[in-house]
Amino acid sequence: MKRSVTIVLAAALAACSSGATVPQQLAATQTLRGADAATVDQVPNKKEYVGKRPGRQKPIPRTFTGQPPLIPHATTNFDEISLEENQCLTCHGLDVYKKKKSPKIGDAHLLPGGVAVSMERYLCTTCHVPQVDARPLVENVFVGTPQQRRDQ
Ligand code: HEC
Ligand code: HEC
Repeated sequence: MKRSVTIVLAAALAACSSGATVPQQLAATQTLRGADAATVDQVPNKKEYVGKRPGRQKPIPRTFTGQPPLIPHATTNFDEISLEENQCLTCHGLDVYKKKKSPKIGDAHLLPGGVAVSMERYLCTTCHVPQVDARPLVENVFVGTPQQRRDQ
């Protein structure tokens, strides 16, 4: 116990001997939000997805060849992707897409032979993202090539 007090004191002395006192060092520390508790939180509002339940939206036009299509529907409550289950595949999977009236997953997502989804495509949301109505954080002047849908 006594020994640890000595160590703490030695550490404090070492900090002081570096030029600035401990209070001075603390005063120089700035947070992004500032120290005033009444400061308005800088975190943007949580946005709702633009799309609603699947089955009600039109596909969002693709703007370049090879673009993973954007998800036009909301994904709240069915975006679970784990070892045990993949909720995206409960509608888009090979065995169910017709019954669920959902677009079939891309042929490039399948293993050779076309019978099962490749694990390289298992994490759907690394490529496909749902949309919110948000102001771009930086200016974007990208103009896509017109209508890159697979049926054209
Ligand atoms: C309840 C069924 C259902 C579930 C679950 C579902 N989808 Fe969909 N998805 C649809 C339907 C139906 C459409 C057609 C557009 C619409 O009606 O919203 C669609 C459209 C899409 C499209 C657009 C395809 C294109 O050609 O433009 C993508 C991409 C997509 N879904 C990805 C996903 C991903 C990723 C998940 C999991 C996070 C998911 N979906 C979960 C039913 C579903
Ligand atoms: C590595 C990126 C990537 C991953 C992961 C991925 N996709 Fe795709 N997806 C694409 C691209 C790119 C396309 C456009 C067609 C193509 O090139 O295969 C596409 C197309 C689609 C389409 C439209 C069908 C078509 O032929 O255009 C659906 C539906 C879809 N993906 C669903 C899914 C689901 C569900 C998963 C998860 C099981 C998933 N994707 C995982 C990149 C990906």
